[in-house]
Amino acid sequence: MAKVKTKWVCQNCGYETAKYIGRCPDCGEWGTLTEEVEIKQTKSAINTVFDDNPVCLINEIEITDNIKLPTGFEEFDRVLGGGLVQGSLVLLAGDPGIGKSTLILQTAGNICAQGKKLLYVCAEESGSQVKLRAKRLNVNSDNLYVYSQTNLEAVINQIDYIKPEILVIDSIQSIYTSNITSSSGSVSQIRECTNALMDIAKNKNITVVVIGHVTKEGNIAGPKVLEHMVDTVIYFEGDKYKSQRLLRSIKNRFGSTNEIGVFNMADNGLNEVTNPSELFMKERTDNATPGSVIIATNEGTRALLVEVQALVGATSYPSPRRVSTGIEYNRLLQIIAVLEKRIGLNLSKHDVYVNVIGGIEIDEPAADLGIALAIATCYRDVVVDGNCVIIGEISLSGEIRNVSNLEKRIYEAQKLGFKKAIIPKLSKKLSNEFDIEIIQVPRLMDAITACVSKRNN
Ligand code: TYD
Ligand code: MG
Repeated sequence: MAKVKTKWVCQNCGYETAKYIGRCPDCGEWGTLTEEVEIKQTKSAINTVFDDNPVCLINEIEITDNIKLPTGFEEFDRVLGGGLVQGSLVLLAGDPGIGKSTLILQTAGNICAQGKKLLYVCAEESGSQVKLRAKRLNVNSDNLYVYSQTNLEAVINQIDYIKPEILVIDSIQSIYTSNITSSSGSVSQIRECTNALMDIAKNKNITVVVIGHVTKEGNIAGPKVLEHMVDTVIYFEGDKYKSQRLLRSIKNRFGSTNEIGVFNMADNGLNEVTNPSELFMKERTDNATPGSVIIATNEGTRALLVEVQALVGATSYPSPRRVSTGIEYNRLLQIIAVLEKRIGLNLSKHDVYVNVIGGIEIDEPAADLGIALAIATCYRDVVVDGNCVIIGEISLSGEIRNVSNLEKRIYEAQKLGFKKAIIPKLSKKLSNEFDIEIIQVPRLMDAITACVSKRNN
């Protein structure tokens, strides 16, 4: 019998080599190469995709509008850039148990209610498990086909038979193609299956939604391979022990990647949160506490109010700890440096922990001033007024810099009943009138004077 030819494939990045090596030369990870049987592939899916596309001049190409199918969730549509684009491949990724299947089943119900035919391939669950969940979520339609199957070829047969307009694969890690012998979930299986699904999306003009689990390192298995291939990558995130869930797109060939969608997980499934600021501040008590500050951050087209908390305490470590959740670590170090130099806080013997409430990740500098005030008030055991919102970027010299979409942020604070906004000193007047008190501060020290007071209790 002829010897079976094998190759070694990096499970992190898909790098292939004939011999075993401990460290992947491509991504630098250790111990990620596994042996897989090399199969001579019959006609690869990817070779056939563009066969009948003629070469043409750019001037001769007609622009066709993408047909966008609403998902029935405004929050989901916003993240997708208006809806699911016909003939596109969307990857919905997230931790196991976060609610991906729930979201997609509810979305499937909404889409089927518009008279579209949808095939839901549940490779992880049996049909009756899906039915049970659908019953709980009140999803019920004559256009929704459920297929409990892990073999991709069988799925493709059913597509030809049922002719759905939307195909959902739950999940890409549990589906396999018989073309390759490696087990499902391996990089080569994922790559080959996604190739075939891309082929289906483009050639048959079927919208394909693929669910992918994120591994504990925070990557989708075979992450880079997958993200390159699909049109849209959406992450579904949140704290599993809390009910808030965020949808965030990190790649979108049809829309912006700044938008987030907010959901709340309840007994009857996921509910949209149209006013996320209210949700993020739900657990806040009326009493102002040292180290707690409300900031106005900007996510895509809307402003969001979120609470930032800091804890500062004497350290028992040789070098003090700096821990940040929801903001970038280096940003925190920079803010601490400015507080030490410009305000004179001596934090060199104190641990500093900063946490953004609600599982939100803030990557814009407009949160700087809020974070600085949270740290400073906790250190001095004073409070920022409870009805005050803080907006502003801090420069290394301790000056407060202007931020984008300032008026939208102030408007959000006013809408939620805040009475005061601390904002950067502006060179010109605000174009809108606001009902809340607006205090412009040129420097960090002025912000502290404007809104910090002794605690009452
Ligand atoms: P699921 O969609 O199965 O997660 P994933 O597909 O991402 O692995 O959701 C699992 C969790 O969601 C489970 O812990 C229970 C919770 N859940 C609710 O709170 N309410 C509901 O109506 C449903 C269907 C699930
Ligand atoms: Mg699931």
